[in-house]
Amino acid sequence: RIAYVNGRYVPHAEAVVHIEDRGYQFADGVYEVIAVAGGRLIDEIGHLERLDRSLRELRISPPMAYRSLALVIRETLRRNRVRDGIVYLQITRGVSRRDHPFPDGVRPALVLTAKSVNFAAVAARAEKGVRVITVEDIRWARRDIKSISLLPNVLAKQDAREAGAYEAFQVDGEGLVTEGSSTNAWIIDTDGRLVTRDLGTAILPGITRQSVIDIARQNGYTIVERAFTVEELKSAREVFLTSTTSFVMPVVQVDDKVIGNGQPGSLSTALLAAYRDYMD
Ligand code: PDD
Repeated sequence: RIAYVNGRYVPHAEAVVHIEDRGYQFADGVYEVIAVAGGRLIDEIGHLERLDRSLRELRISPPMAYRSLALVIRETLRRNRVRDGIVYLQITRGVSRRDHPFPDGVRPALVLTAKSVNFAAVAARAEKGVRVITVEDIRWARRDIKSISLLPNVLAKQDAREAGAYEAFQVDGEGLVTEGSSTNAWIIDTDGRLVTRDLGTAILPGITRQSVIDIARQNGYTIVERAFTVEELKSAREVFLTSTTSFVMPVVQVDDKVIGNGQPGSLSTALLAAYRDYMD
């Protein structure tokens, strides 16, 4: 495997950053994960625009022009022979002697890795549906920024893992579901409307979330962007989650509550099929 590190393509095992990289010391950086299917990047523009926004919000200057970054992404994929998989991009504020405020004159650090993913395994999971647990959302107040500060997400996903679940849906202080540890959460209400939390600072504006909204609208579904409670989640007709690596993943159980008849719902299944068409 080959990684891109600040202008160089280096063997994965030798790809290193300095110990005083601010990403390492302060989680002072942002990232993106973009899926590649059949050699094509899915929603590249959406991901790069979100990356740009995350950088602006944290006042980190872009390490290179958009067009150059698009080339580096392709070259990283090519060197790793990835046709189906993901590319990971990370930008940190750079290397400087440890001090909290932004250092003067540092260059942002850019790192990319790519790996193949077996999408057939994702599809097999989706056929059965997955279980999720609910956990308290202990994250900071700017979840709209795709920051590399992911400790609460790591803890939530570990809770899910230990419970034998696929994902943990996080719940805010008002009892409202925000999102999964690395996915957006959706329900289908009794009227067949698709409900997902509205954008703002409480959740990450998922790129898959937006694509699924667009696809669902084109297919005549009604979308409601609003917060929903854990009670609504557990009594929903259908539940699913979305992300770059999970696509549309039907959820068949939340904590101890079985959703519907315990099988992926018909609407979720139809949406997954529509999303797979969109990917091809
Ligand atoms: N996670 N919410 C959170 C907190 C996320 O980290 C992600 C993405 C999503 C889904 O967003 P998108 O559809 O743009 O992938 C929602 C990535 C995949 C990750 O951390 O690996």
